[in-house]
Amino acid sequence: MSAAEAGVGQTFHLALIPGDGVGTEVIAGAVEVLETVGRVFGFGFTWDRLIVGGAGIDAYGIACRPEDVEACRAADAVLLGAVGGPKWDNPDATVRPEQALFALRGGLGLFANLRPITVQPQLIGASPLKPELLEGVDCMIVRELTSGLYFGKPSEPRVTADGERAAIDTLWYTESEIRRIVTLGFELARGRRRKLTQVDKANVLATSRLWRKVTEEVHADYPDVTLEHRLVDSAAMTLAKWPAGFDVLVTENLFGDILSDEAAVIAGSLGMLPSASIGTRQTAHGRHGLYEPIHGSAPDIAGKDLANPLGTILSAAMMLRWSLGRTDAAEAIEAAVAATLADGFRTKDLLPSDAAEAATLTVVGTQAMARVVGDRIAINRPVTA
Ligand code: IPM
Ligand code: MG
Repeated sequence: MSAAEAGVGQTFHLALIPGDGVGTEVIAGAVEVLETVGRVFGFGFTWDRLIVGGAGIDAYGIACRPEDVEACRAADAVLLGAVGGPKWDNPDATVRPEQALFALRGGLGLFANLRPITVQPQLIGASPLKPELLEGVDCMIVRELTSGLYFGKPSEPRVTADGERAAIDTLWYTESEIRRIVTLGFELARGRRRKLTQVDKANVLATSRLWRKVTEEVHADYPDVTLEHRLVDSAAMTLAKWPAGFDVLVTENLFGDILSDEAAVIAGSLGMLPSASIGTRQTAHGRHGLYEPIHGSAPDIAGKDLANPLGTILSAAMMLRWSLGRTDAAEAIEAAVAATLADGFRTKDLLPSDAAEAATLTVVGTQAMARVVGDRIAINRPVTA
């Protein structure tokens, strides 16, 4: 490929939201890796660093200002660390860091959250599951992100006629909200192992029964994909018993939140997993989207250079692939992460339970881990994964 074909000289404009806790540390690592991959592949970045989340509450009294949402809309893509922390945890507070996530997801129309679950072969010992259960695990959780219990109104405290404290949340889905996410699930399945598992609680919930009906209708356009419906309780159990049985799993907002944390255990550490939140809007380079690790702000280890930056670095790779049209650079990052693990580098969360095996590994902090990954891109090391 010639330099021109490879897009040399491209500059991508990114919105950067470090957020709170370990968010700032893992974002620093991902930025370093992105700058490196840009140098190697001949493209660059401009960064619009936004103060959002708990930091936004401290600075502006609100987790995410309308102008922050607009700055994210104007960017080619958004890279986010994590938001939240004990400082802002008061249950009576009317402003909460997490409101930033909902403002961004809703405001930018990011209705699909993609959470790939794979097991890096070197991390099999770090997973609590038996090694034989981890073989062939390659699942894509597709979580609906802008409706359901997270967005349904009313959602508020109430008082009963007898004066007892009560509260209400609303689980609401429209046909079109279900259709667009399920269609994306089928599309993704087509490029993978052609199996779609739709997860719900149709034996109890009216919304789940609508999900089933709409999913069946969409399936008519995808006869080449095998469709399975599974109740969420059974899906939770099956994820632990036979995770390799899942290909694409599509589900509503709350079920997807819960199942993706469960699935993360399979990968050995929550710190490993990336995510992409996308809608349908196209930019000059690809689909607009927001990318973040699936872990939270981890206040217990914040500021100690202990956090695993790989989930954020792999999120940056997803960003290059989905939003920036640079699959080449995405693959280089993924190969460098695999090479880093193969060379024995581990943040603390990735150490295996077996002490003898752990002793053969090199424990590194957040910054060093990002540097090691960057080095493996910079020397353009052949793929060793
Ligand atoms: C996630 C998180 C958020 C969610 C929280 C922080 C509100 O758990 O992105 O999975 O529930 O969506
Ligand atoms: Mg979650």
